[in-house]
Amino acid sequence: MKILAPSILSADFLSLGDQIQKVINAGAHWIHCDIMDGAFVPNLTFGPMVVSAVNRCTDVPLDVHLMIRNPDPIIPEFITSGADYVTVHAEEVIHLHRTVSMIRELGAKPGIAINPATPLCMVEEILPFVSLVLVMSVNPGFGGQKFISTSLDKIQRLNTLRQRHNYDFLIEVDGGVNEDTITQLSEAGCDVFVAGSAVFRGNIHDSVKVLLDKMRNS
Ligand code: DX5
Ligand code: ZN
Repeated sequence: MKILAPSILSADFLSLGDQIQKVINAGAHWIHCDIMDGAFVPNLTFGPMVVSAVNRCTDVPLDVHLMIRNPDPIIPEFITSGADYVTVHAEEVIHLHRTVSMIRELGAKPGIAINPATPLCMVEEILPFVSLVLVMSVNPGFGGQKFISTSLDKIQRLNTLRQRHNYDFLIEVDGGVNEDTITQLSEAGCDVFVAGSAVFRGNIHDSVKVLLDKMRNS
């Protein structure tokens, strides 16, 4: 199953509900919510209140990407606001097993994210406990950046690791995903594709259809 998860970071926030409906009607599967605190990344976006508003306008899974310092205290509020997947950054969380266990105990699916320069070995011990591994293919903080090509090899190595140990986590790629990169990412073993500018900076319906087509025909 290949999953398209548009990131609302690039959506028009003056008509967010309508934009979400458009991507879902065009066939997108999840909504990716980029939470930024201006400290872990040099940008500031939104919190649980917006996730709750998104949750009121769609039933699809909400994929919440926490690019924030010290996420533990606010994770419960994101889950009560409707987050189905809660992903934290390995670079930021000291007690990763405790955080991942908390997310699961609160009824959501835990994800672990790694930045482009973070090696896979940094998350090896937590792989048996997560539902999702988010491979950042741009430096987090902004939409519309260029895909970092070494991400492809990293995803292939992660997929090999998953197969060798028979892990059941999903592999998600995030950053610079578009019609030129999605096919090779799918062939490399990606399951979930986050796309922001490739979806929202043109005709939403047509953009989603192109990405779905290229994602599936790999
Ligand atoms: C970047 C975010 C990404 C971003 C993707 O820090 O985590 O989800 O919104 O945007 P595009 O698809 O435009 O690179
Ligand atoms: Zn993201």
